[in-house]
Amino acid sequence: MKPAILIARAIFPEIIERLSGYFDVESNQEDIIFTAPELLAKLKGKQGVLCTASARLNAELLAQLPALKMVANMAVGYDNLDLPACTARGVMASNTPDVLNETTADFAWALLMATARRVTESEHWLRAGKWNKWSYDAFLGADIHGATLGIIGMGRIGQAVARRSMGFDMRVVYHNRSRLTDQQESYANNAVYVSKEELLKTADHVILVLPYSTETHHTIGAAELLMMKPSATLVNLARGGIVDDVALIAALRQQKIAAAGLDVFENEPKFHPDFLTLKNVVLTPHIASASEATRRAMANCAADNLIAGLSHQRPPNLLNPAVFVN
Ligand code: DGY
Repeated sequence: MKPAILIARAIFPEIIERLSGYFDVESNQEDIIFTAPELLAKLKGKQGVLCTASARLNAELLAQLPALKMVANMAVGYDNLDLPACTARGVMASNTPDVLNETTADFAWALLMATARRVTESEHWLRAGKWNKWSYDAFLGADIHGATLGIIGMGRIGQAVARRSMGFDMRVVYHNRSRLTDQQESYANNAVYVSKEELLKTADHVILVLPYSTETHHTIGAAELLMMKPSATLVNLARGGIVDDVALIAALRQQKIAAAGLDVFENEPKFHPDFLTLKNVVLTPHIASASEATRRAMANCAADNLIAGLSHQRPPNLLNPAVFVN
């Protein structure tokens, strides 16, 4: 008998086909967002699950799933999983790192440039039929080239963002849990390690690419926003909760910073409605990794992990190696 698995969200049909070669698959192509009791009912008796960041796999849920052996998260971030609880219960967990680095870094630039150069704001104005003459001061924004870029979270995505800044002759400062090696710093456009405070005070553009955890909750709040230059832009493509959205709304409204570009939000997809009242914010629906090729690569990466884990092989992106028994 094949092991039973759940694919918790809609996915590329070829992934279902691929996994069906190994498993008895229950899929969710209607893309219902399961409540916690529904998810529990769907997972009962399943040995594996392929899920996304929208599924909360916490200790309470895991305690009721003795058959579960493997959770393959289709995301690099895994703050939706209680990893210690997975480990305590002997459940392997994996994520999808690396395959999305370059696509996500591309998007950081899309968001930064749209924000600093007021692309969406001016397009809305044009679409509203308000454009009747060229003006010297219409939609003046901030330059990217020659500016100082501050990156908080200098993992693989952060480094890919930094590399792209070379073409814009930017100076890069970064803050991270640990300092990069000299070689990594030089490859990342000679990025200079600084304190969070110095970064916020000196950067013209700040990009957040750090993982969410209780320690990084509200890394950017009212105090940090006050440290930033009034002309600065802030881009968040990491996770909702890294920024205190209420404090950001106040800072944008009072023009304590110039603008923000946000791909992630607290409580998404039910983000704070006041963002919609602000012109100096660019809003996108958590799509930084959403290129056709990369989303397929992420889905296949999650599938690779699940197949390995449930075939007594070490999943390539195992997050809790202590659990692996061959
Ligand atoms: C990730 O991979 O973490 C993206 O944010 C998608 O959830």
